[in-house]
Amino acid sequence: MGTKTSTIAMKVPSVDLRAQYADIREEIQAALQEVLESQQFIFGPKVEQFEQEMARYCGTQYGVGVASGTDALLLSLKAVGVGPGDEVITSPFSFFATAGAIHNLGAVPVFVDIQPDTFNLNPELIEAKRTARTKALLPVHLFGQCADMKPVLDIARHHGLPVIEDAAQSIGAEYCLDGLWHKAGSLGDLGCISFFPSKNLGAFGDGGLVVTGRQELDDQVRLLRFHGGRTKYVHERVGYNSRLDALQAAVLSVKLKHLDRWVEARRAHAATYDRLLGASAWDSAVVPPLIRDYAKSVFNQYVIRCHRRDALKEFLEERGISTAVYYPVPLHLQPCFNDLGYKAGDLPVAEKACREVLALPIYPELTEEMQNYVVTQIRDFYRK
Ligand SMILES: Cc1ncc(COP(=O)(O)O)c(C=O)c1O
Repeated sequence: MGTKTSTIAMKVPSVDLRAQYADIREEIQAALQEVLESQQFIFGPKVEQFEQEMARYCGTQYGVGVASGTDALLLSLKAVGVGPGDEVITSPFSFFATAGAIHNLGAVPVFVDIQPDTFNLNPELIEAKRTARTKALLPVHLFGQCADMKPVLDIARHHGLPVIEDAAQSIGAEYCLDGLWHKAGSLGDLGCISFFPSKNLGAFGDGGLVVTGRQELDDQVRLLRFHGGRTKYVHERVGYNSRLDALQAAVLSVKLKHLDRWVEARRAHAATYDRLLGASAWDSAVVPPLIRDYAKSVFNQYVIRCHRRDALKEFLEERGISTAVYYPVPLHLQPCFNDLGYKAGDLPVAEKACREVLALPIYPELTEEMQNYVVTQIRDFYRK
């Protein structure tokens, strides 16, 4: 075998934001210039326009820009009245913000194990974890695929619980409910979206948005994002400073016009990976992601399950291929949640996923040549 550098035939990053920017540079610069000339950075027409565009895109009545996806969750939870001592049922297999937002309101995240094939919360396990203190349900639409929302919504309706969707990774994803397709974020009471740069719709920094069809929740989130004040210096409740600024809104408005095209490219790349991986005899060493019939994924990530994951990751890295592990530690076993009393083995499906998942490079500008290279290298690894 040659040296590490000589094994790199091609560089394949996890994402390539520079390629995206190169494609839309002029449009972005014109939009930014407009904001700079106006010198209106907080609230104002750019933000309002983008909020309306997002509401339309997600199929909801209202959209409220906030500072991040994390804050979208925090403000949504607070808007439905989650507070100290309450319990919120959610997934243990998600980015930390999902549980962190619950904890930061003094409430308790109650983790329900996931489905092995979709990595999303298993709705069949919710009832067993519901108590008199349960205040809300917080399903996560992971990697671009909606959680199975019908049973979640049925449970919520039955017990009068609000549903907050963590759609941070899944803007534009769809779920088929009673024969009709609905966009992620529009199924529950509130939907939370992140514009972290690596998301399918990424800002030039942090940003987030809450979508809702309920006027009173829109009103509450609007209050909460600006210190609970409707009129200057009069505060109805204690809120936060959490706003999407005009520069980010301008960037996002431009990018939103391209989002469907980018999602189509992601879907095509996912189909290519499916085909290339499906053509190999892996003996279950590699399992491609499964998209259920009720879902149209937007493939924010393309996540395989694989044997000897860490060794494969290192092998690919040495060959110029960047991959990522989302997530190596489940939320119920995070050190900061020790006092919740979970132990290893409590949520075995999520724990197993943490040992096996690997996100392959996926972004609109990825080429088929790169994908061929990735899958050839994976094949080489298992041949050894
Ligand atoms: C599932 C999930 N929830 C919440 C967040 C938080 O979003 P942000 O990074 O914009 O605060 C993220 C993203 O980073 C996420 O992936």
